[in-house]
Amino acid sequence: MPALVVAGAQWGDEGKGKLVDYLAMRARIVARYQGGHNAGHTVVINDEKFILHLIPSGILHEGKLCVIGNGVVIDPACLIEEMDVLIARGVPIGDNLVISQNAHLIMPYHMALEAAGESLMGAKKIGTTGRGIGPAYVDKMARCGIRMADILNPPLFRERLRVNVEKANRLLACLYGAPGFDPDEVFDRYLGYAKRLERYAGNAGEVIDRALREGQNVLIEGAQGTLLDIDHGTYPYVTSSSASAGGACTGLGIGPAMITKAMGVIKAYTTRVGGGPFPTELDDELGEQLRRRGGEYGATTGRPRRCGWLDIVSLTHSVRVNGFGGFALTKLDILDGLDVIKVCTAYMLDGKITREFPADAAALERCRPVYEELAGWKESTAGVRRWEDLPENARIYVGWIEERLGIGADMIATGQRRDELIVKRENFQP
Ligand code: GDP
Ligand code: IMO
Ligand code: MG
Repeated sequence: MPALVVAGAQWGDEGKGKLVDYLAMRARIVARYQGGHNAGHTVVINDEKFILHLIPSGILHEGKLCVIGNGVVIDPACLIEEMDVLIARGVPIGDNLVISQNAHLIMPYHMALEAAGESLMGAKKIGTTGRGIGPAYVDKMARCGIRMADILNPPLFRERLRVNVEKANRLLACLYGAPGFDPDEVFDRYLGYAKRLERYAGNAGEVIDRALREGQNVLIEGAQGTLLDIDHGTYPYVTSSSASAGGACTGLGIGPAMITKAMGVIKAYTTRVGGGPFPTELDDELGEQLRRRGGEYGATTGRPRRCGWLDIVSLTHSVRVNGFGGFALTKLDILDGLDVIKVCTAYMLDGKITREFPADAAALERCRPVYEELAGWKESTAGVRRWEDLPENARIYVGWIEERLGIGADMIATGQRRDELIVKRENFQP
């Protein structure tokens, strides 16, 4: 009954979508446990590109059950749009999708509150995706959120919504001088969404538990990354959910003993979108080159991603937080042609060398990277499918990361497409 969690080890966009799509081949279920449509997971099959936001990246395979867990926050309009785009492209959505009845919904006032709050922060703003993710999780924790099951019960929904809209309208007016919402309009709109989504609502945890007991493979897809995790990331410059592997249990309703392994997804260099500290960031021509070659523009917002070298200090923290049993290294091909590859192995913090990832973002902001240099390679690794076919220095780079992190590389991605991948170790047996 293997259940594998695939989680980002950095600040998101590590290439989780591509790997989950590959691994989904041998899974019965692919499930998302947190985040919302702030995620943008890219899957490229032949020359067709799909960007998935809420629907698990297993949907492009026939016969897989895709589960949106209780820990996910759902904007129903965006989910329906994503479904319609997939259907129009020939991807069937029917009995292959289950949405947890306990998943919380993103409401229009969540987006308005987020926009107003961010604008007040000025230079200190988080630089969110503006999708209403944070405020939706705030309501969840404040125990006034609206869940999938609630919109299937109109009288209850109307009452909850009335109170929530009134509160949001007062906040928007008093704190930000922003316009409010008409509860009747929101009610009618969301009842329309409910009609469309009703057939997918189910008990996600039960569905997964049953599959595991039947001996089926379950693939659990993280969104964002460990350094954006609400507890273990660079708080407050984080997202509002448990992106690391621990979130899989609470976000799906399965016990920790059910999870067999967590695999980290590591980009061969580092990127970050939005605000917050980033010790190995390159503000120079090389950073620009990585952005250009790696196509480092957000899959959700189109914002340019900040780029920098690989950071072993933060990755060591991620390995520990998630208990990664292995990792997938992505975008190795983007490093082709460099004379030297730098990797941060320690920070200089207030005049002292440290290998510990600081607990607070202000300290991380003061950290200066201490680099080790490895020799680059001139050959192309683009599309390489066998370990033996990688240039020697590329193999040395991968081996060096394995040694530093104390875990092995399961997979190495060498291109965008589904088949541009070296599989060193299969996580699911055929
Ligand atoms: P995710 O959010 O972790 O799923 O990652 P994104 O989809 O946001 O960003 C990763 C980007 O890198 C996408 O455009 C992928 O198609 C692309 N990608 C993934 N792996 C590789 C790789 O090994 N090489 C190259 N060149 N591109 C890759
Ligand atoms: P995937 O799943 C990269 C970042 C935002 C911002 C912070 C908080 O594609 O890896 P939020 O809207 O979540 O409140 O924004 O988190 N962020 C991501 N960065 N990849 C993502 O998802 C992200 N989802 C959120 O840029 O800095
Ligand atoms: Mg992404």
